[in-house]
Amino acid sequence: MDHTRARITKDGIRIHDDADFAGMRAAGQMAAEILDGVAPMVVPGVTTAALDDYIRVEVERRGATSATIGYKGYRHASCISVNHVVCHGIPGGKVLMDGDITNIDVTVIVDGWFGDTSRMYVAGDLPRKAGRLIEVTHDALMLGIAAVKPGNTFGDIGHAIQTFVEGNRMSVVRDFCGHGLGRVFHAPPNVLHYGRPGSAAVLEEGMFFTIEPMVNLGRAETKVLADDWTAVTRDKSLSAQFEHSVGVTATGCEIFTLSPAGLFYPTWGAQA
Ligand code: MF3
Ligand code: CO
Ligand code: CO
Repeated sequence: MDHTRARITKDGIRIHDDADFAGMRAAGQMAAEILDGVAPMVVPGVTTAALDDYIRVEVERRGATSATIGYKGYRHASCISVNHVVCHGIPGGKVLMDGDITNIDVTVIVDGWFGDTSRMYVAGDLPRKAGRLIEVTHDALMLGIAAVKPGNTFGDIGHAIQTFVEGNRMSVVRDFCGHGLGRVFHAPPNVLHYGRPGSAAVLEEGMFFTIEPMVNLGRAETKVLADDWTAVTRDKSLSAQFEHSVGVTATGCEIFTLSPAGLFYPTWGAQA
């Protein structure tokens, strides 16, 4: 790709150039490294506030900025969503217990570029059903990413995720979606995790966005608690989420938020 292609599509999606890919790579790698670093802390007895403290200090130590502190009044360096919390869990005094599963979502700003990624962790021993949920959610994200290439559509991404999740008799959350990003946190388009093949905007080289499916063991419906942030499953069933930030290349996509330590994929034991 040359450096003269920067423009906005008719769908309002920014097309980025090579230098922009380098910026996103740096931001994405930092966010992923921080998620790698917090992994050993996720054990029974830890509070979600302690995990967030670690993340906030790591962001500062690396000379970056947290994108979430101060975002719409949010005050923390991460979202930590335990068990039936779907997303936007607020770090606090909650103590993780053996068998709890949690998503940790970090967004950093590095030289103006936003790196946004989340993954699942388990405290102690992983219950079998939770393991299945986590594995299906991870694989759903990667199938969505496999559909990212010029000429495919955002509907193709959503369809790949939805058919896989529903084929495993789990449900895709409809109330939250992925998003364009780059020099901004949330930009067009909305990246739905369900959809029909060939629907929605056509993917073009230079688009940057997240894919971040939330999958529930029970029904898809969510509600937001009185704190105005925490989203939970209405039926209290377990929920999982994985998120990568990606950029569309000439032949497919680059994942900006790959784990340097290879810790993104859940490898906590045989999930038969
Ligand atoms: N990182 C989240 C996302 O994937 C957004 C969190 S906004 C916050 O888009 F304010 F809740 F932190
Ligand atoms: Co996101
Ligand atoms: Co995120």
